[in-house]
Amino acid sequence: MKKIAITGGGGFVAGSMLRQPPEGTELHAITRGKPLAELPQVVWHSVDPMDAAALDACLDAIAPDAVVHTAAIAAIDYCQAHQDEARAVNAEMAGRVAQAAARLGAKLVYCSTDNVFDGERGRYTEEDPPQPVNFYGGTKVEGERLSAAATPNHVIARVAIVMGLPMLGVGNSFLSRMIPVLESGEELGVPPQEIRSPIDVVTLGQALNELAGNDFTGIVHLSGNDIMNRWEMVRRIAVHLGFPAEQVVQNDPTTIPGRADRPTDVSLLNAKARSVLHTPFCGLEEGIARVMALAPKPEGAA
Ligand SMILES: NC(=O)c1ccc[n+]([C@@H]2O[C@H](COP(=O)([O-])OP(=O)(O)OC[C@H]3O[C@@H](n4cnc5c(N)ncnc54)[C@H](OP(=O)(O)O)[C@@H]3O)[C@@H](O)[C@H]2O)c1
Repeated sequence: MKKIAITGGGGFVAGSMLRQPPEGTELHAITRGKPLAELPQVVWHSVDPMDAAALDACLDAIAPDAVVHTAAIAAIDYCQAHQDEARAVNAEMAGRVAQAAARLGAKLVYCSTDNVFDGERGRYTEEDPPQPVNFYGGTKVEGERLSAAATPNHVIARVAIVMGLPMLGVGNSFLSRMIPVLESGEELGVPPQEIRSPIDVVTLGQALNELAGNDFTGIVHLSGNDIMNRWEMVRRIAVHLGFPAEQVVQNDPTTIPGRADRPTDVSLLNAKARSVLHTPFCGLEEGIARVMALAPKPEGAA
């Protein structure tokens, strides 16, 4: 039985990996919280990964074949306002996780972001150099660097904006924040200036599980097949879920005090991912369908 350790086990991205364990694989979820659910092939470890000794002891006990490091502060504005904390969590912890993976002879998969790019051009490939415009992006570039320095047996998985509902727990899902607004009948403002290549969380979980188990090393971009601005993205999701398109309006969030800069166009090209992975990548509407098929049903639903 192969063993994959996953940090940030209570998070949005990890939840999708945990709901889709590959055959012949045991997934070890490391979380600061309590186990979120009893799931087949999943073992929970309640450990704070910022506690270096506790993390080392936990990983030693698991003896994983691969470590997928998803734990991070993914809130861009929070990172801008709390820079020491963001650096410690997103970069320094990533370095320690990578060194532990190297020590144990495990493959490392580091979850990075489209926000490593400056967004001036868009359609980025794995050959393009990172140049972040916000502090969050900077911490993730540093996490990439420390991961690559610790072990040659690494994957830098740059993840586009993730679309979906949490498969476990709560997690950092814009879709679960937008649905109550749409249900209330109020307008939902979304910026048309920001161009992205959203990936659904179900496909992302499959791709990360596959990367943990295969022989690929290096940088790979995990994004959906479609490129669009965020207003169009949310409008298409709303329509697909049965809400009126007119409810999704354009806004300009750059006037919000304290909002960190966002890169304009950080669409990622996924040609390399599609050539090295068996995971089927898809466009936005197919992605929503995959999410709705796997998402936990509300209590009382048929
Ligand atoms: N969501 C996106 O659109 C997106 C896009 C690009 C890249 N990413 C990257 O994907 C990864 C996962 O993001 P996500 O969307 O799943 O975020 P998330 O739902 O916020 O999950 C991240 C997890 O990291 C752990 N964590 C957060 N703060 C921590 C702290 N101070 N100390 C220790 N652990 C902490 C928590 O795990 P526990 O509660 O289990 O301890 C948290 O649930 C991140 O590396 C992020 O940079 C996300």
